[in-house]
Amino acid sequence: MADMAFSGPEPDLQDLLAARPQLQMHAQDGLCLEGVALNAVADEYGTPIWVYGAGTMRARFAALRDAFKAEAVPMHIHYAVKANDHLAILNLFREQGAGADVVSIGEFRRAGLAGITARDIVYSGVGKSEAELEAALAAGIGQINTESAEEIEMISAIASRLGVVANIALRMNPDVDAGTHAKITTGLAENKFGIAAADIPALYARAASLPGVRAAGIAMHIGSQILSTTPYRLAYEKGATMVRALREAGQNVEVLDIGGGLGIGYQDEPGLNPAAFAATVRQATQGLGVKLMMEPGRYLTGPAGILLASVILRKQAGKRFLVLDAAMNELMRPAMYEAWHGILPVDASAFHAPATPADVVGPICESADVFAKDRALPDLRPGARLGLLDAGAYGAVMSSAYNARPRPAAVLVDQGGFALITRRQEPEALWEGEMIPVPGGA
Ligand code: LLP
Repeated sequence: MADMAFSGPEPDLQDLLAARPQLQMHAQDGLCLEGVALNAVADEYGTPIWVYGAGTMRARFAALRDAFKAEAVPMHIHYAVKANDHLAILNLFREQGAGADVVSIGEFRRAGLAGITARDIVYSGVGKSEAELEAALAAGIGQINTESAEEIEMISAIASRLGVVANIALRMNPDVDAGTHAKITTGLAENKFGIAAADIPALYARAASLPGVRAAGIAMHIGSQILSTTPYRLAYEKGATMVRALREAGQNVEVLDIGGGLGIGYQDEPGLNPAAFAATVRQATQGLGVKLMMEPGRYLTGPAGILLASVILRKQAGKRFLVLDAAMNELMRPAMYEAWHGILPVDASAFHAPATPADVVGPICESADVFAKDRALPDLRPGARLGLLDAGAYGAVMSSAYNARPRPAAVLVDQGGFALITRRQEPEALWEGEMIPVPGGA
């Protein structure tokens, strides 16, 4: 299984900057996101802090939409809320015309708060509770992607009780290797996701026969951070074959949800090209006559986000260590997947200074609290700021308050200005809701 860390020589600071049009280095202001100085953001709101670029997200959404337009493939884009569930970001994608893909009632409610109507929401996931299904159906959810016989029965029972009809798609496991990290591949037979192709026809027929359920189509999602169109082609060809087989068996199939997973360039690997992806989708689904939907997350938000941090102190212990005020509890990806994230100094003088290897770490009491090992970086004094790049997807959403660290603030950069979109959590909020019981119960 391919590791998420790219094996080529590491890009230097200039390379990282050159590959990211959303970033600029100004001689006086230092590192900027969409023209906004990160120093100005940190001066106002402190560090660590998440900084997101609205223009980058809009541009990436447009690139994906336009790639399908160029192939004359009508595509319904449902933003995968799990990548970054901030209300301001959901609102931004709603403004661009996106629906949402959710995996919990909490995400469903977030999408609703951002103005995405229930019928534009797809509910995915391997385990939805009865209460969650009931709430989603009562609110008029557009589609439920289901992955088990038992859930189909549950949906039928709940929808019948509520007197509604649930649109469902059966998530097919195409048994394709997405060539990504073992922890984020989902389309192999051994993964917990989806329904084996061999089981789909009988289950589809069962679903079509049940009250309260409308079997509307097939869904797939083969993994995340996928960098090649090959696994997609293989999966979608299998999906198209399934649609035809179901129709031959007399079933009604209107929808093919092709999932998400489009990879981005973290190191110097080229991200998945939207034009190549759209062409793959067109070829695999040509003449199928289905409504196509997709669920991208990382592609839309990943490159738009930076975790802005400061150096607390330097430490020489055989190796050179830079200890930051951000840690694995904020950006978990390096600790969890050995993921590589670019790191840029914010000050222009540091950016141009000679670089030597350093381990960039957080202050948490875990050896896994490492953002980068032997990374070529200049000497950075306490207080110097650094940007951890491509942190807009699976960053804040996966963070925790481990070591009683309050959650950072977040800022949205837009049209040359910036606005606070999340207040820094007060430490008191960490223990709010906790109680010390009276011995023997109260
Ligand atoms: N649809 C379904 C059913 C999914 O499970 C996922 C992601 C997506 C769509 C969106 O995938 P994307 O386009 O963002 O790749 N925490 C990991 C990634 C986990 C992805 C889980 N499922 C990471 O940090 O790399």
